[in-house]
Amino acid sequence: MTADTLTVTDNRTGTSYEIPIENGAINASHLRQIKASEGDFGLMSYDPGFLNTASCHSRITYIDGDVGILRYRGYPIEQLAEESTYLETTYLIFHGELPTAAELEDWSWNINHHTLLHENIKKFIDGFKYDAHPMGTLVSSIAALSTFYPDSKNIFDPESQRKQVFRLMGKIPTVAAFVYRHAIGLPYAYPDNDLSYTGNFLNMLYKMTELKYSPDPVLEKALDVLFILHADHEQNCSTNAMRNVGSSQTDPYSALAGAAAALYGPLHGGANEMVLRMLAEIGSTDKVPAFIKGVKAGEGRLMGFGHRVYKNYDPRAKVIKRIADQVFEVTGRNPLLDIALELERIALEDDYFIQRKLYPNVDFYSGLIYQSMGLPVSMFPVLFAIARTSGWLAQWIEMLEDPEQKLARPRQLYLGSDVRDYVPMNRRQAA
Ligand code: ACO
Repeated sequence: MTADTLTVTDNRTGTSYEIPIENGAINASHLRQIKASEGDFGLMSYDPGFLNTASCHSRITYIDGDVGILRYRGYPIEQLAEESTYLETTYLIFHGELPTAAELEDWSWNINHHTLLHENIKKFIDGFKYDAHPMGTLVSSIAALSTFYPDSKNIFDPESQRKQVFRLMGKIPTVAAFVYRHAIGLPYAYPDNDLSYTGNFLNMLYKMTELKYSPDPVLEKALDVLFILHADHEQNCSTNAMRNVGSSQTDPYSALAGAAAALYGPLHGGANEMVLRMLAEIGSTDKVPAFIKGVKAGEGRLMGFGHRVYKNYDPRAKVIKRIADQVFEVTGRNPLLDIALELERIALEDDYFIQRKLYPNVDFYSGLIYQSMGLPVSMFPVLFAIARTSGWLAQWIEMLEDPEQKLARPRQLYLGSDVRDYVPMNRRQAA
């Protein structure tokens, strides 16, 4: 018997099975040989919410949630946030290695030269109500992009993949900015390819009548770091959605619309929006203890706290706290910051949060920065979606290149009625 195996005995039959362990996991299909009788389907594993199921092999992002480690392609997030840029980091995420100067120039040029939208896209953004949630408009616009690029159906062609990556990464800030300008009734501001990725995004958000927009370098850098922190996060809910939808071999725009829709929810990327709403609702630091008491009594969650994977301080939250100070020097201190700091202080000392290992996550402070930059809370998940587009696409390509990946199609444990005969209407009785 080799050491890297698991021996299980089925007490229903007394039979023992030896199951290989590879990379710290057993292959769930190996359980199928465990049968109680001849016609038995075989043993399955039951794991709602994928609490303990690896759905793929990946070489992109490593997280050790117990100690608060996050690395892209082996590089610690703290170093990337300090030394890299968003576009350089995305090159790393896609290619596995940091680029040379020429490679980075080519990568950035291609992304920055795919920023324009087909004019028809403006027309359907125009069709949304002024108060439409920006995420709803963004998700729909991304899905609609699929109809503009039918060549994207060639999902296994590396050249086509590359093209769609440039298009999606180039265009998503433009769609996001247009969605914002539509909501506040300003004319759309077109991309300026002379600016950096985040500088151009700020230009499309905030340009008024000036001929050339000059982004504030502190805000441009802060946004760039926030984008680095949000670029990928292994098999989170939205990335899983990207792989899931993409596994049916649909085009990347349709799959990415699915991923963005998953991000929208308040338990995932919508949490940064909910944090700000929560802080505003609390209103002042003296109301924090009562709010915490309510959370502990089950009257809602402390938004921006807790994580499926991190059972320690989210390393991204630490970096964000530092950037917040730099941003507030330019924009003025966000008055909600004191409430956030007080919430964090009390929660980190409270048994309820300590026992459940609930720490601030990436969303706890990011919203405060976005708000100080002048963005409405409903735009926060949109900013997350821009940054995460790189991770979604890199994971999508990794999935397509993985010979072990198949159409994502889980099993179920059926607990419903056994077979029964149809009852005609005149013989039915109310339940
Ligand atoms: N506030 C209060 N209690 C919490 C919180 C919270 N934010 N998060 C978890 N708990 C409690 C649960 O009530 C549960 O308590 P119990 O054991 O007494 O029933 C326990 O901690 C475990 O919680 P689960 O929901 O089972 O843990 P799960 O891993 O499924 O949840 C999640 C992770 C969804 C992120 C959760 O912590 C949460 O809802 N947080 C608030 C929303 C949020 O900030 N989401 C952003 C996550 S980061 C991201 O997606 C980018």
